[in-house]
Amino acid sequence: MTRKALITGITGQDGAYLAEFLLGKGYEVHGMVRRSSTESFERIGHLQDLISLHQADLLDQLSIITLMQEIEPDEVYNLAAQSFVPTSWLQPLLTGEFTALGVTRMLEAIRLVNRRIRFYQASSSEMFGNVAEEPQSENTPFYPRSPYGVAKAYGHFITVNYRESYDIFACSGILFNHESPLRGKEFVTRKITDAVARIKLGVRSKLKLGNLDAMRDWGFAGDYVKAMWMMLQQDKPDDYVVATGQKHSVRDFVELAFAHADLDWQDHVEIDPKLIRPAEVNTLRGNAGKARSVLGWQPDVSFPQLVQMMVDADLERIRLEVAEQTPACGSDTDSDG
Ligand code: NAP
Ligand code: GDD
Repeated sequence: MTRKALITGITGQDGAYLAEFLLGKGYEVHGMVRRSSTESFERIGHLQDLISLHQADLLDQLSIITLMQEIEPDEVYNLAAQSFVPTSWLQPLLTGEFTALGVTRMLEAIRLVNRRIRFYQASSSEMFGNVAEEPQSENTPFYPRSPYGVAKAYGHFITVNYRESYDIFACSGILFNHESPLRGKEFVTRKITDAVARIKLGVRSKLKLGNLDAMRDWGFAGDYVKAMWMMLQQDKPDDYVVATGQKHSVRDFVELAFAHADLDWQDHVEIDPKLIRPAEVNTLRGNAGKARSVLGWQPDVSFPQLVQMMVDADLERIRLEVAEQTPACGSDTDSDG
C-alpha cells in the first residue's frame, strides 16, 4: 500500500525539501496551503504535478479536521508556523495562534479522526534561548527569548502531552538552524548570500546587518528533513535534537560568503542598530547524539559547503535576472530581517 503523508507548511523551505524526499520514498504527498490572493508556490513549482495541494489553515480547526478525513494520511508533518523570530515581537498574538495553538489544532484533528496517524512537530532550538548548558540536548531546560520561542515551547509540550495522554505516535524534532538556497531572504544566511551575489554582480553595494556576534549551529535543510522522516519510522515515538554539533558566528558566515565571491566583507557590511533584537539568543550548539545512535542520522553537508552552495545558487539566480534585464526585485533595499 502506498503510504500517504500530509505536510503543513509545504510552501516553505522545509516543506519543499520534505515533499521531494517523501516522493523519492514512494509516498503519496499531500500539502496543506492557506488561501492567499497570490499563490506562493515558488519552492514547489517543480513538484506541483506530483503532489496534491489542499486549502486549510492552522487557525481553522474545522478545515484541518475535514482535511484529515479526506486524505486519511498515515503520517502528518506539521511544519507550518509563523517562523521568523523578529516578527514574533511585532505580532506576538498571531505567532501564538499559528505556532502554539496551531499545534493543538493539528493534534485535536488526529485525536478525533484517527489516533493511529503518526505526527511530527517542527520544534526549534530557539526554545533553548538563554542556554542552560552547552551543547544542548533533549534534556536541556528551555529558556525561550522571543514570543516565537515561547510559542514553540508550547508546541513541543503539547506534542509530548498528546503522546502521553492519548497514546498518539507524536514526535517533536528539536531542529537547530538549517539553511539552503530555498531559505527565506529575511533569515540572516540567505540575506547575506543574496546580498553577496547582488554586490558581486554590481546591482547593489551595501548590506545592513544586526548582531554579528550571535552564534548558531547551522546545517543543510536537505539533511534535516531526512531526520523528520526517520523519527516517524521508529517503533516508539520520541523527541530528538537534530544539529551538526558545530557553531559559527554570523561574522564567520559573512566572511566566508564574501570570500567565496572574492569580496572583502568589510567594504560592504554596515551595522544597523534597528536589526538588534529586543532579546537575543546569543549562542546555540546542539548535541545530536541521540538522533545519531537511535535514528542513525548524521548530516552530510559541512558549514563551508553550505555557505558555498548558497552563494553559488544566488549568483546563478541574480546572473539570470541581470541577463534578462528584469529589475532585480528589491535590488538596493534591505529586507527588514
Ligand atoms: P518557512 O520557510 O517560513 O515556512 C513556513 C510555512 O508555514 C509556509 O509554508 C507558510 O505558508 C506556512 N504557514 C504559516 N502560517 C500558516 C497558517 N496559518 N496556515 C497554514 N500554513 C501556514 O519555515 P521553514 O524554515 O520551512 O521551517 C519549517 C518549520 O520548522 C517551521 O515551523 C519553523 O518554525 C520550524 N523550524 C525551522 C528551523 C529552520 O532553521 N529552518 C529550525 C527549527 C524549527 P505561506 O507560504 O502561505 O506563508
Ligand atoms: N534575520 C536576521 N537579519 N538576523 C540577523 C541579522 C539580520 O540582518 N543580523 C544579525 N542577525 C542574527 C540574529 O540576531 C540571530 O542571532 C541570528 O542572526 C540568526 O537569525 P535568523 O537567521 O533570523 O534565525 P533565528 O536563529 O532567529 O531563527 C531561525 O532558526 C530557529 C532555530 O533556532 C528560524 O528558522 C526559526 O524559525 C528557527 O526555529
